[in-house]
Amino acid sequence: MKILVTGASGFIGKKLVQHLLDKNISVRIMSRRLESLDGFEHKNLEKVKANAQKYEEVRDALKGIDIAYYLIHSMEGESKDWKKFAEIDKKVAKNFADASTECGVKRIIYVGGLVSIPDSEMSKHMSSRKEVGEILKSSEAKTTIFRASVVLGKGGGGFEMMRYLVERLPVMVCPKWVLTKLQPIYIDDVVEYLYESLNVKETENRTFDIGGPDILEYREMMKAYGKMNNKSIIMIIIPFLSLRFTSYWVDLVTPIKASLARPLVEGLKNESIMTEESIMDLIPIKLKGVEESLKLSIYEDDKHEFTKKENYLSYLVMALSIIGILHLLVDQRLMMMLPITGTVSVIWLAIIGAGYYFIKQRARLGSLLVGIAGWSAALFWLVDSTYLISYLPQIGPYPVSKGISILGTYPSVNTSILNIIGLCVIAVLLVVAHFTFYDKDLYTKQL
Ligand SMILES: NC(=O)c1ccc[n+]([C@@H]2O[C@H](COP(=O)([O-])OP(=O)(O)OC[C@H]3O[C@@H](n4cnc5c(N)ncnc54)[C@H](OP(=O)(O)O)[C@@H]3O)[C@@H](O)[C@H]2O)c1
Repeated sequence: MKILVTGASGFIGKKLVQHLLDKNISVRIMSRRLESLDGFEHKNLEKVKANAQKYEEVRDALKGIDIAYYLIHSMEGESKDWKKFAEIDKKVAKNFADASTECGVKRIIYVGGLVSIPDSEMSKHMSSRKEVGEILKSSEAKTTIFRASVVLGKGGGGFEMMRYLVERLPVMVCPKWVLTKLQPIYIDDVVEYLYESLNVKETENRTFDIGGPDILEYREMMKAYGKMNNKSIIMIIIPFLSLRFTSYWVDLVTPIKASLARPLVEGLKNESIMTEESIMDLIPIKLKGVEESLKLSIYEDDKHEFTKKENYLSYLVMALSIIGILHLLVDQRLMMMLPITGTVSVIWLAIIGAGYYFIKQRARLGSLLVGIAGWSAALFWLVDSTYLISYLPQIGPYPVSKGISILGTYPSVNTSILNIIGLCVIAVLLVVAHFTFYDKDLYTKQL
């Protein structure tokens, strides 16, 4: 029996390959980048490089294969590309089904998404996972489809999104999808079903729902994870928060890109509870509950080194906040004493503080916030300093006016010196914040 595991570099694929090797089964594993399979070395292992978007490549990978695990999922690329996922997934599944027929593959085993609502109410993402299953069924191979809700375990997209949100946000403004009911399953239990189904003939040409013993709201799962990490989270549910806003928010707070966050979040809008339990009779395994699964997924030693960029940025933020506070003390102009000026200053300092917190949490939101604080201070200090040009007698043939006094009077010498130092710090800060914000590797490597 020759087995192919596609998506072998992915969350479920990696675990499945290791399990098959531990059981001494020969396996061929497939990826578009062989280096992503570097972690696997075994005498029973054969690695192939193939992009399933190319028919010939996938056909070559399937030659001589009896059973193929289909664990391919195209959630990658830029956020603007998220709409293309379904198209790509469709094409890839069609290639795979046709190539399986051509190569005489006997069986395809696939993990799709679990939803317990009518098709008409299904999110685009879930419809696409279902469509992939239907396309795979069109091959001459016998198919087994497992429908799973959130799979818990280190490295899983859904789990990592939740963990980072809980760990990084003490107060969460959430859309109403956090009230959606789920039936999560632990990764090892999914792998067990995938492996055991090889030997259970009755699983051929069938679709099964798989899930752990607990049904709970997404919000409850977040709270349970927070409790395990000694974090109490406050959740404020705002029903009208849009999908787009939520996915960009996830992108800014967690290492999960908006392109991946969008289908993940969209998937969570649909209730996912088992609608049938026939797998439990065919493959009886002791399933782990949510609490045990979360405990097993906790990162024990989650210390990380800050990069130079992150360190420079936090020093610059500290310097900027000190200059800002000094301004409040030194600048004695009447306008500075007004409640409105005081409120604006407090808001500015709060943005700086939040920026610093998120830089320390390694979230993109940090560089965005300090960028906003930097630009607004730069604008203010720059305009406040324009009177300095009046010290020039003229620029070319034109006489120079005295510049704008935004606070009614021109700043004192001390305030002007602070303005100039502040502007120099901001210039460097904005450059570092820009490169930190757009450093994709910095954030995706956290996953
Ligand atoms: N994770 C969950 O919580 C969860 C829940 C329910 C259902 N599922 C289902 O389980 C399956 C696997 O999920 P996962 O979380 O393990 O996915 P994943 O970690 O995102 O991995 C996806 C895999 O797809 C491969 N891939 C993507 N495009 C490819 C292409 N054109 N050609 C060849 N390989 C390609 C990637 O391999 P390379 O980049 O190395 O080529 C990668 O290993 C999916 O069908 C998913 O819907 C997952």
